[in-house]
Amino acid sequence: MIDLAVLISGNGSNLQAIIDAIAAGLPAKIKLVISDKAEAYGLERARLAGIPTVVIAREVYPNRKSFDLALQAALDKYQPNFIILAGFMRILGPEFVEHYPNHILNIHPALLPKYPGLNTHQAVLTAGDPLHGATVHVVTNDLDQGPIIAQASIAVDPKEDSTSLQAKVHRLEHRLYPWVISLLAADRLQLTAKGIFLDGQALPNHGLQLNEMDKVRSLS
Ligand code: GRF
Repeated sequence: MIDLAVLISGNGSNLQAIIDAIAAGLPAKIKLVISDKAEAYGLERARLAGIPTVVIAREVYPNRKSFDLALQAALDKYQPNFIILAGFMRILGPEFVEHYPNHILNIHPALLPKYPGLNTHQAVLTAGDPLHGATVHVVTNDLDQGPIIAQASIAVDPKEDSTSLQAKVHRLEHRLYPWVISLLAADRLQLTAKGIFLDGQALPNHGLQLNEMDKVRSLS
């Protein structure tokens, strides 16, 4: 059993996917959901699931450092094993990241290292890429560039628009994040300064692929 804190800023559909996976037997507990926006719908999802919530509103803090310290204080009260960024739209400062080395995960709507940052779906369409997807990675001081844990990909239909592409990627994310968390909960996945290991084997640079889920599961 692992304890999680989930950080959100908005809708919280990834949070919901993790809540649902836990209800279906994933051996993890969400100790706390933190939002930097009081109006985030994800807070409602957490409340409905009986999870404590905290709002750390960015406008209350004069700078990033004081915001990060408030976040750290809230998290340290609960001592989660992992901090799960799920649509958290605030960049965390280096002192915060270094306080939890290899314990912060993020999900990003692109096949990193391609398309860090925002507007990934439109960028994929504009570039005419045949593939798009989502990445779960370890958070480091380089935005969206930490070691890749796992990816899920889909073929891009060049006729679709960014809204429909976004919806497809979201559906992938909702399988990808709970899968990664299940591997952490089973103690099969190790996130270390020397790299990421599954069952003691170093992962390739692009991490695990969601289409390997059954293969990886059958190893257990
Ligand atoms: C997701 O697309 C995630 O990849 C990105 O922010 C979005 C959050 O969506 N980091 P939701 O709030 O989980 O619905």
